[in-house]
Amino acid sequence: MLRGSGCLPRASLAPAAVLAAALLASLSRCSLLEPQDLVVSPLSQYFGTKTRYEDANPGLLPDPEAPRRDPELLENCTPVQLVALIRHGTRYPTSKQIRKLRQLHGLLQARGPGEHRADAAGGRDLGAALADRPLWYADWMDGQLVEKGRQDMRQLALRLSSLFPGLFSRENCSRLQLVTSSKHRCVESGDAFLKGLWQHYHPGSPAPDVADMECGPPRINDKLMRFFDHCEKFTTEVESNNTALYHVEAFKTGPEMQKVLKKVAAILQVPVNNLNADLIQVAFFTCSFDLAIKGVKSPWCDVFDTDDAKVLEYLNDLKQYWKRGYGYAINSRSSCTLFQDIFQHLDKAVEQKKRSQPVSSPVILQFGHAETLLPLLSLMGYFKDKEPLTAYNYKEQMHRKFRSGHIVPYASNLLFVLYHCKNAKTSEDEFRVQMLLNEKVLPLAYSQETVSLYDDLKNHYKDILQSCHASEECKLPKMNNTSDEL
Ligand SMILES: *[C@@H]1O[C@H](CO)[C@@H](O)[C@H](O)[C@H]1NC(C)=O
Ligand SMILES: *[C@@H]1O[C@H](CO)[C@@H](O)[C@H](O)[C@H]1NC(C)=O
Repeated sequence: MLRGSGCLPRASLAPAAVLAAALLASLSRCSLLEPQDLVVSPLSQYFGTKTRYEDANPGLLPDPEAPRRDPELLENCTPVQLVALIRHGTRYPTSKQIRKLRQLHGLLQARGPGEHRADAAGGRDLGAALADRPLWYADWMDGQLVEKGRQDMRQLALRLSSLFPGLFSRENCSRLQLVTSSKHRCVESGDAFLKGLWQHYHPGSPAPDVADMECGPPRINDKLMRFFDHCEKFTTEVESNNTALYHVEAFKTGPEMQKVLKKVAAILQVPVNNLNADLIQVAFFTCSFDLAIKGVKSPWCDVFDTDDAKVLEYLNDLKQYWKRGYGYAINSRSSCTLFQDIFQHLDKAVEQKKRSQPVSSPVILQFGHAETLLPLLSLMGYFKDKEPLTAYNYKEQMHRKFRSGHIVPYASNLLFVLYHCKNAKTSEDEFRVQMLLNEKVLPLAYSQETVSLYDDLKNHYKDILQSCHASEECKLPKMNNTSDEL
C-alpha cells in the first residue's frame, strides 16, 4: 500500500507549483538512501513507543489538504500560528537495551550442543540461527537518531510546509522559533526538520549547515522539553521509587507473561529459568529496531506471534501509564509549564492580530520525547480509560484507549493551529484552534468537536492555566519533622 511512498509527491490536490516543487524535492530525496518498500510485520502495531510513524499512520496524508477541509475553517479563516510539539524520529536502541540484547545473545550461544536440534515440527532451529547471527548494535549508538529518523523529520517538514504554506513561507522562516531538548536525538531531529524545510524552499539544492540557514537557530531548553527531570516530586516519588511501578513488575511475573516465557523458551530451546520478561522484551524490541532502522524483518520477529506481541505491548503501555500517564497525578502535572508556554504563544499571536500587527512567531517547533508528549496529553484529558491499567486487568484492557504505539510513535507530533476568522454573520474577528495529533484532527477531549473557539478552549483549561505552577506542583511534601525535634 505504501510502496514507494517516500519518493512520490503527496500533494495530490495542491496547486501545480507546489506539486512541481514537491516532485523536484522528492526526486532529490530519492537519491538519498531511502527504502522503496515498507517492510511490514504482523507485530508492527504492538511496538508501543518503538512504533514507526507510518505504522501508526497507515493512510499517511494521501491528501495533505484534508485536515483543513473543515468547512468552518475553510470559509472565513486563515491560519496565523502553528505550535508543534514533536517527538524525535527513529532512533538506535539505548546502551542499556544493547547490553540486555548481548546478554540474551550470549545465552543462546551458550546453549549445550545436545540442545541444538530441529524443533518438534521439524522446522529449523531458530535459537541456533539467532546465536550465529552477529549483533550489529554497538555501544556508541546509545539512543541516537538514525538516518531513517532524519528522513522522518524531513518528510514531516515537507508535509507540514505544504499543509501550511503561508506559515512556512520563506518570508516567515526567519521568524520561526525552534526549541529542543538537549538530547542528541532531539537536536538532530530539529536539524533534519530544518533541512526538510530547505528542500521545500530550494528543491534540488543541497541543504547548508543548519547554522547557516535563515530559519532557527535551535535553542536548547530542558526545563521545557524535559520538565520531568526538573520536577523533584516526580523524580523522588515516581522515577526513582521502586514501588511506584508496582503493576509493571507484577505483570512481568504474572500468568500472561509466564505463558509467553514458556513459549519463547521452547522456541529458543533454552531453560525457562534463564529467561525473564526483560530479556523477552529486548528480543521483541530488536525485531522492532531491525524493522524501523534497517527496514528488514529479522529472525528476532519469528520468536513471537501476535498473542505474545499483545502481552508485550501491554507491558510497555503499563510502564508509560504509571510513569508518564494517568498512573500518578504528578506525571501530568509536571508538564504544566509546557502547557502554559504553548498558550502564551497563542495568546501573544491573538493579541498581535487584534492590534493588526504581524505575528512575531508564526511557527514554533518544540522537539522532545515520548515522555514530553504523553504527560501533556494526559494533562489535557486524552486517552483516559475508565479503569486504570493494572497487572491484573490485561483482558479487560484489550480495547483500551491508552495505546502508546498509536499515540507516541517515533516522530509523533501534536499541533496547535491558531486560526483568525471573520464571523460570517457579525463579521467580527474570532480566533479558533484546531489540534492535530500525528497529522490527524484530534477532537477536543471534552466536547469531541474538531475546532474550538480559542476562548472556549482557554476557558475549559482555565484551572491548569491559572493554578498549575510547576514550582508548587513539583515541591516535595514537607517531611514531618518530629524526629528532628527530639
Ligand atoms: C507569514 O505568516 C502570517 C501568519 O502569522 C501570514 O499571515 C503571512 O501571510 C505569512 N507570510 C507570507 C509571505 O505568507
Ligand atoms: C513510592 O510509591 C508508592 C506508591 O505510589 C508510595 O506509596 C510511596 O510513598 C512512594 N515513596 C516515596 C519515597 O515517595
